[in-house]
Amino acid sequence: MNIILKKKKSFSEYDNLILLTDKKQNFSEINFSEKEAKHIESELKNGNEIVNINQFDRIISIVSPKKEKNKNQFKENIRLIGDKLHTIFHKKKSVVISCLNKKTDNILLITEGLALSNYTFTQHKSNPNPHPLKEISLTHVPNDKIHELQNIINSVYLTRNLINQPFSHLTASGLANEAKKSAEKNGIIVDIFNKKKIERLKMGGLLAVNKGSIDEPTFTILEWKPKNAKNTKPIVLVGKGIVYDTGGLSLKPTTNSMDLMKIDMGGAGTIIGAINAIASNKIPAYVIALIPATDNRPSGNAYAPGDVITMFDGTTVEVLNTDAEGRMILADALSYAKKYNPELVIDFATLTGAAKAAIGHYGLVSMHKDSKKDHDELKKSGDETHERLAELPFWSDYDELIKSDIADIKNIGGPYGGAITAGKFLAHFTEYPWVHIDMPGVYSKTKYGYRGKGATGMGVRLIYNFIKNRY
Ligand code: BES
Ligand code: ZN
Ligand code: ZN
Repeated sequence: MNIILKKKKSFSEYDNLILLTDKKQNFSEINFSEKEAKHIESELKNGNEIVNINQFDRIISIVSPKKEKNKNQFKENIRLIGDKLHTIFHKKKSVVISCLNKKTDNILLITEGLALSNYTFTQHKSNPNPHPLKEISLTHVPNDKIHELQNIINSVYLTRNLINQPFSHLTASGLANEAKKSAEKNGIIVDIFNKKKIERLKMGGLLAVNKGSIDEPTFTILEWKPKNAKNTKPIVLVGKGIVYDTGGLSLKPTTNSMDLMKIDMGGAGTIIGAINAIASNKIPAYVIALIPATDNRPSGNAYAPGDVITMFDGTTVEVLNTDAEGRMILADALSYAKKYNPELVIDFATLTGAAKAAIGHYGLVSMHKDSKKDHDELKKSGDETHERLAELPFWSDYDELIKSDIADIKNIGGPYGGAITAGKFLAHFTEYPWVHIDMPGVYSKTKYGYRGKGATGMGVRLIYNFIKNRY
């Protein structure tokens, strides 16, 4: 269940309370006992950021964030304080966040961290925790800001739900339907292509990967085009929608590999959440999301290493590894994006193990082709939301690594620079400003602050921030 954010004029003596202060604040607004007041004073003096006072029927946390010169790191520190506070307040039904120093931005950041920490994925549990935190009230913060944050939190939850959902409960059609369900609530126009339509369009990459599957592929288009949109050429988001990646005939091993691969629609899940955040907050931007989707499986009919596939744009691809399937389906979507004459295309994909090997789950790996300005803007949003981009080189030297002896290109490069050669493969299908984002941060096996354990939702706040700042 989603957490509810509310506005409140001020706190009362009954509220569970998180109170932001500066060190030298006086606490006369609250009836602390002399002992409590002394305790708070000495703890803050010792440099503690959080001081908890357990009263008979409520908890008060006094929060005094440490100084940090880097503005973005400071913001992240406050979100992480929200995460720490979750361990204190998660068993309470509600909590009020207020401040004595009128720094309302910090109230929002604590709320963001606390609300994101409260996410659970309990759909398949017989006895889910019956008492999660349900309501956060904020003082001082204007209603529109609370509303905006609520929509962002809901969108991150949506993305995490989609990515955490196993393949047993989310096929390609299931993903398309979920995209439709959420989009229609927010005035996003939805079009879902079925297998017949995909065949008619000759999306050879998507169809090749789908050959081993017993389920049909889908190609979903979400369009947010408000009347007051400031751009006439759309921003097109493309998301990898592999609902399960066994590797196909180039089968993956189970442990720490195939067993994680329900998350291989992470790119799709991210852009579904992001476009919902954009639409629910009525951002005046023309944005399109394209989601090619299928599972990747071995079967008697599966595409095989050595096959040559003709793609949607006519390019021929020699498939040397069926586990490099993401680029096959993304290539068709990237070619399809041309028809919109886009201002910019950004694709999001759990594309390579190499990206994870490079940076772990702490961020996103990016590449671009002659789109430095767009990339700089995205990087800035990444720093602001702490969904950071680590840029890899995209030198032309890598181009030769995907040349094929018998077709136009092949779907794998050499033993090194795997994330880059995957990007180079995609670049072949782009003829517009384009940024590629490989997403190791989509999933964490261990708890990663307020992003939790499992699907992190990383990428949603990045895209939202980027689109909002741009328009
Ligand atoms: N979905 C995987 C990439 C992946 C691996 C994402 C681990 C997240 C965690 C992708 O389809 C894949 O299998 N890539 C191969 C490419 C290789 C065969 C060239 C890889 O990275 O090993
Ligand atoms: Zn794969
Ligand atoms: Zn994959």
